[in-house]
Amino acid sequence: MTTAHPLTELDVQPTPLALLLLGRDADPRSERGVECPGDLPAPSDPDLVARARAAKDRLGDRVFVLGHHYQRDEVIQFADVTGDSFKLARDAAARPGAEYIVFCGVHFMAESADILTGPDQKVVLPDLAAGCSMADMATAEQVEECWDVLSEAGVADGVVPVSYMNSSADIKAFTGRHGGTICTSSNAERALNWAFEQGDKVLFLPDQHLGRNTAVRDLGMSLEDCVVYNPHRPNGGLTAQQLRDAKMILWRGHCSVHGRFSLDSVEEVRARIPGVNVLVHPECRHEVVAAADEVGSTEYIIKALEAAPPGSKWAVGTELNLVRRLANRFAPQDKEIVFLDRTVCFCSTMNRIDLPHLVWTLESLADGNEINRITVDADTAHYAQVALEQMLALP
Ligand code: 13P
Ligand code: SF4
Repeated sequence: MTTAHPLTELDVQPTPLALLLLGRDADPRSERGVECPGDLPAPSDPDLVARARAAKDRLGDRVFVLGHHYQRDEVIQFADVTGDSFKLARDAAARPGAEYIVFCGVHFMAESADILTGPDQKVVLPDLAAGCSMADMATAEQVEECWDVLSEAGVADGVVPVSYMNSSADIKAFTGRHGGTICTSSNAERALNWAFEQGDKVLFLPDQHLGRNTAVRDLGMSLEDCVVYNPHRPNGGLTAQQLRDAKMILWRGHCSVHGRFSLDSVEEVRARIPGVNVLVHPECRHEVVAAADEVGSTEYIIKALEAAPPGSKWAVGTELNLVRRLANRFAPQDKEIVFLDRTVCFCSTMNRIDLPHLVWTLESLADGNEINRITVDADTAHYAQVALEQMLALP
């Protein structure tokens, strides 16, 4: 994964990041994983597809494989169901008979699946290093400290936390403990409307862009209604007066993939492809969303392209694996679909789940070796579920 902005000294974390990105070592403050313990098959092994199929057949109904839309083609072909993070968590919950849920996605998604599935079901992440840089931008300690800052400023009582699905179970539990809700990119507007009926301010975690885009684009707030809380600065870099004046307190987090799309990408593609429709995910920066023709979650993007008329042209600002797949799928229907930017790359942690990891996972489970299980402790799971259920009950 590439970073969206040049690193400043404030962004530099004292963690062995390079090793973590290579799938080795551990960061106790992050949801990024640990070394993968097994002997993975070589990526060049010509029998990988046959081995994955054979292992999946051996497991039969005991295994249910979930594939997020951003997964590689080589992996998604083995998914029993595909979807966005919320749909996949619900799909997992709807399969109580499956002993193993193999989650081809990232760590926070596997945690949500563990929270929403039965106690006897085991959720497995094929590579423990498949974290999410956005989820890692809000740790439990940082968010507790933020709440103290809000209390000292005398505003905490009126603040309702709204946390994006793309957050760790700890952050979801914090949200549940403080009477807030989870949201996804499909229901963020409803979540904010609900939250402003409960209080007079929202603490939006961890994606500043989804929070700002929803507040300004959907709820009609101004950019001045939003402040950004930077966990690396004393008091978030904000004065008590700024906190009192703000309606939206946005956590300083972003998606390393969507945050890279720029206004230049939009202008360049409009000049290059006359008549093109620009369709972007709301994790993109505000100026990109403001310049786009349509904005929506991954499920929205797929449905918009399904409904598009033949001959239409689209530049799509979301993860590259999905855009490529949609371009190939709709080319025979004469729909031209291009990637919005020439330099933005795949989500590198999503891409960690490759065919060798999937084969290793399925073969290990079929041989009775329970590897890479993701579990959330009971207290965290309880409060995270409170916040998830609040989302399900949104009007
Ligand atoms: P959705 O799939 O929920 O739209 O989220 C996008 C994303 O970045 C997932 O990691
Ligand atoms: Fe996280 Fe962005 Fe990758 Fe999704 S696409 S897993 S939000 S870094």
